[in-house]
Amino acid sequence: MTAARKRATTKIRKLLLAGAVVAVGAVAGTAGCALFQSEQVAKGQKLYAHYCMHCHGEHGRQNEGYNWGQMPDPRPKDLSNQGEMSTFKDEEIYGTISRDMKDTTPEVGDKIGDDEFAVPTMPTFKYTLSEEEIWAIVAYVRTLHGMSLTFNVEGRKKELQDQLQAAQQKADQTKQALEAAEKKAEDEAEKKGVDVDDAATAKEQEANAAVAKELEAAKTALANFSSKPKFAAVQRPDLTMAEAEAAKQAETGKRLYSNKYGCNACHQVGDAGGIVGPALDRAGFRLNSTWVYRWIKYPQSMKPETRMPNLGISDPDARAIARYLATLRAPKPEKPIEKASAK
Ligand code: HEC
Ligand code: HEC
Repeated sequence: MTAARKRATTKIRKLLLAGAVVAVGAVAGTAGCALFQSEQVAKGQKLYAHYCMHCHGEHGRQNEGYNWGQMPDPRPKDLSNQGEMSTFKDEEIYGTISRDMKDTTPEVGDKIGDDEFAVPTMPTFKYTLSEEEIWAIVAYVRTLHGMSLTFNVEGRKKELQDQLQAAQQKADQTKQALEAAEKKAEDEAEKKGVDVDDAATAKEQEANAAVAKELEAAKTALANFSSKPKFAAVQRPDLTMAEAEAAKQAETGKRLYSNKYGCNACHQVGDAGGIVGPALDRAGFRLNSTWVYRWIKYPQSMKPETRMPNLGISDPDARAIARYLATLRAPKPEKPIEKASAK
């Protein structure tokens, strides 16, 4: 089946970004000196060359990237088309590049809004690049159709810094309140000559734990602004299962492979699929399922600069896809398998 293709409308599409970004966008244009902008565009161009060019082409034109003609429909968007690209706000382009993948299978798949971008063969970079890097890419993409970024990126950073500072203050206050309550409970217990009652400070303890969590979230948000997102090492999965279950999982994996994560955008099975990564026809012979599981969940932990993005694959989805790849056991070809052109 053809993967569902949701087209952008003039309506603002759901941003998978903190809602606050939109507010910052309102003051866009007030900041940003020319030097900062040209540095940002240069940085974005480098990242674009590494992560986007094989599909979209150096100048964003149709059939310019070497992978363009190999891809299933819809082919990568013409980023040089000002008429169309100018209808997207900076935040919308950001939202496309930094989103969660959706299962586009009709009926059994995810619910997808009419105005939501959900083409599986356009990968997400949310789990691969920092927020700052993605804004730099958006700045470069803007130049491909003769525009420039107006979103206030420095303002966004300032906002995250302010949020962290506020969270830190709140954490300090609740900690003080907890300490005061503990002191009071201790004094009272001493006066009565009994053990300290933990329940007396339960409310303060709870508040303290909640605020500590908020503080952690604010720290992560600021860290992910400037540095590539980091995740815990992927544990070795237990992939043993009964044969019937394995067959069922492989079916699901096959569906997710194309309809959710668009692996076929970059990998060939048979004659179909892109050529950014190696062909996977013989993955069942060549690759160990445990390794495949760990690779697809977090490729950057094994090869930091790989062009294969971390697609934010859930544990059950990774399990199913690993099972599917294990079933790919095409006979040895007469001619050697085409090597990935972009290693
Ligand atoms: C594997 C190929 C592939 C890669 C890599 C890729 N794209 Fe795309 N891109 C696509 C496809 C396919 C579409 C969907 C075209 C359509 O809907 O007509 C698309 C669409 C887009 C759109 C238009 C979205 C919209 O709202 O209609 C933008 C902007 C874009 N890509 C930017 C990028 C950037 C920036 C990168 C690198 C960070 C990138 N793409 C990497 C394949 C790719
Ligand atoms: C944007 C392109 C892209 C997408 C999307 C992509 N890959 Fe890859 N993949 C690559 C590249 C490039 C490599 C080669 C790794 C390297 O050396 O950097 C690779 C390597 C692999 C390998 C190792 C192959 C081998 O023979 O060593 C497997 C397995 C794999 N990908 C599976 C997947 C699966 C499954 C998906 C979807 C969940 C997927 N890939 C999505 C580009 C992509």
